[in-house]
Amino acid sequence: MSEMVKLERSGKVGVLVVDNPPVNALGQAVRQGLLDRLAEAEADPEIAIVVILGAGRTFMAGADIREFGKPPMPPALGDVVDRIEASRKPVVAAIHGTAFGGGLEVAMGCDYRVAIASAKVGLPEVTLGILPGAGGTQRLPRLAGVEAAIDMMTTGAPKSAREALELGILDEVVEGADIRGVGVAFAERVLAEGRQRRRTGDLDERLQEARRDPGMIEKARQVVEKRSRNLVSPLLIVDAVEAALSLPLREGLKKERALFVRALETPQRRGLVHAFFAQREAAKVAGLSPDARPRDVGEVAVIGAGTMGGGIAMCFANVGIPVTLLESEQSALDRGVATIRRNYESTVKKGRLQSADMDKRMGLIRPTLSYDDLAQADLVIEAIFESMEAKKDVFGRLDKVAKPGAILATNTSTLDVNEIASATTRPQDVAGMHFFSPANVMKLLENVRASQTAPDVQATIMEVGKRIGKVPVMVGVCYGFVGNRMLHRRTREAIDLVEEGASPEAVDAVLTDFGFPMGQFAMSDLAGIDVGWRIRQERRKAGDPDAQAPNWLDRLAEQGRFGQKTGGGVYAYEPGDRTPRPDPAVAKLIEDWRREKNVAPRIVEEQEILERCLYAMVNEGAKILDEGIAARPGDIDTIWINGYGFPAYRGGPMFWADEVGLPIIVEALEKYAAKLDRPHLQPSPLLRRLASEGKGFASLTAPS
Ligand code: 3HC
Ligand code: NAI
Repeated sequence: MSEMVKLERSGKVGVLVVDNPPVNALGQAVRQGLLDRLAEAEADPEIAIVVILGAGRTFMAGADIREFGKPPMPPALGDVVDRIEASRKPVVAAIHGTAFGGGLEVAMGCDYRVAIASAKVGLPEVTLGILPGAGGTQRLPRLAGVEAAIDMMTTGAPKSAREALELGILDEVVEGADIRGVGVAFAERVLAEGRQRRRTGDLDERLQEARRDPGMIEKARQVVEKRSRNLVSPLLIVDAVEAALSLPLREGLKKERALFVRALETPQRRGLVHAFFAQREAAKVAGLSPDARPRDVGEVAVIGAGTMGGGIAMCFANVGIPVTLLESEQSALDRGVATIRRNYESTVKKGRLQSADMDKRMGLIRPTLSYDDLAQADLVIEAIFESMEAKKDVFGRLDKVAKPGAILATNTSTLDVNEIASATTRPQDVAGMHFFSPANVMKLLENVRASQTAPDVQATIMEVGKRIGKVPVMVGVCYGFVGNRMLHRRTREAIDLVEEGASPEAVDAVLTDFGFPMGQFAMSDLAGIDVGWRIRQERRKAGDPDAQAPNWLDRLAEQGRFGQKTGGGVYAYEPGDRTPRPDPAVAKLIEDWRREKNVAPRIVEEQEILERCLYAMVNEGAKILDEGIAARPGDIDTIWINGYGFPAYRGGPMFWADEVGLPIIVEALEKYAAKLDRPHLQPSPLLRRLASEGKGFASLTAPS
């Protein structure tokens, strides 16, 4: 007897309630429970129709992802869905929350599907490196048509209940919150109206439509191949849908199963599943007591309406939180507000925002020049230019006007948050909230806890981050925090590799082939070469022994070639076109540089480019872990996937390093450190220790 699925009765309706918090994942006990309770309902002469629904906040969020990679435990979900479809009594799925993956597959095994308006449905398996494996690839095309099904399954994007109704995935959408009432009422209507059974597997009309266009699958394959660069499972999805068109249901299901097992065994699946859990783990701050309750945040203020401040203000307005935007001068304020409006207008033009919603969001942004207007804010985020003196001045003023208990955060990308906190009389309320550019788009939020940041402040900035749709990760105070500190290592290698003989294009190609959306130098051109140049200058001035010697990229910056914003950087750009093109002038600058430095250019193999760029980052990641700046390797992975385009299917830099094998990385770093006489490439103590013990980063546990 399984506890996770209960059979309840309401007149002639048998209600199967799946109760496996928090998201009713379809683990073994749920699968068995569905079979057992369904058999019980079939055997009960009082029950004429069955409703399946989820207890708690949602229907079913899919297969239990924690079971992947372990020996399969019967019954298989596919068999459960087939059994539901073959049930002797009609079955209705009543959906609230999310019917994702295996959850939607269960629903598609039912005769009818009713949902409440706020529900979402989807087959997001592709985001985990797999494909629907319980009949989804065979049944969705029968309901929604081949084209829509391929699109849904290869992007993994969920559909709202209304969209799903239009697509034919759902039969009815109703307003309301009582899912049990909705399901029972629908089932009673089916009985009263004497509706016929409607097994999805028997439907053929939508497949017939697709068969009339024989080129459709090939076209879809090409689109998917282009869109899902390097990914394995999207193409397997197309193969499975092709089977739905050409084979009877049973054979199609068999083919799907074989493709599913193939996807399950790929390194991409391992990487993506790691990324899924790492992100959720990162949401739980290591060492933070569960008693630390978030403070209420109803009103926000942002100081500085420049590149970052404007985007940050939008993040809050987008979710309905009023935000006061403070500038030092009227002209800067006007400019900032105009940029925000332009951003919204462009979203409206693309059809992704209603004009009325734009007005609502603009109405939530309250521009001001007066600190007095910040007195009501529960959270203030400072985003003025990067100067310790200026930031301390702002925090000193904030200390005077902010209400007691208000959280004072800085968006600094490099400065010491402890020192900034020292400008106030309430360092316990001060933290970092490091957004990434463009702040209204980028998912990553590096939250920074300084030495005195209060536990409830830490809890609040994580909760607020989630509320505005970010992926928040808590880090400690150090130069560049986690992401930029590791990036600086990669930048340094990339610059050196070019000095030694590689071309910038070759370095970028290795990184894009690896799966980054952009190479190192194309990214510098986008962010502005001047940013890194100023940082390197500062570090040299400060006498940092680890500062990189002046280099060819600095020379480029000295010539005013800052990247896309000045029409050219490492690459040349045609007006209005962001495609990087190799520039002979830059090639010459590099050649001249090498000559002056007496560097005889050598052939640099792709393998060396990859190893030096990425192993240097992994090595820095190990130091960051050793120092406790990041609590877990998965936190670093989450940062790199969400903030720097590290391919999620490789799981993030630390997971990837484990897959490569730490002894291999240690050996390579030692080789480069010796051969090139670069002590900074020596493996860190933690990396050496783990390698010598035959362990990976995954063996590390977070400090409690
Ligand atoms: N299996 C196991 N655990 C799951 C899970 C799943 N399918 N989905 C969510 N969880 C866990 C999370 O790890 C988290 O655990 P934690 O509290 O211990 O960290 C908890 O449930 C809550 O999850 P979230 O923090 O993500 O909660 P949200 O409310 O933000 O989001 C959600 C809910 C939208 C359902 C989101 O969790 C989600 O997208 N889940 C994955 C959905 C998915 O990919 N389903 C397909 C699975 S593969 C499949 O079905 C194969 C089939 O075709 C055979
Ligand atoms: P910016 O120069 O575009 O904007 C700064 C704005 O602050 C300007 O509009 C300026 O008028 C205003 N300002 C200056 N002093 C002020 C004061 N005392 N009171 C009110 N407003 C004042 O700078 P940007 O790029 O937005 O950077 C802001 C902060 O964000 C910096 O700390 C930077 O390191 C950090 N950051 C920047 C990223 C980027 O990619 N640009 C990414 C992540 C963090």
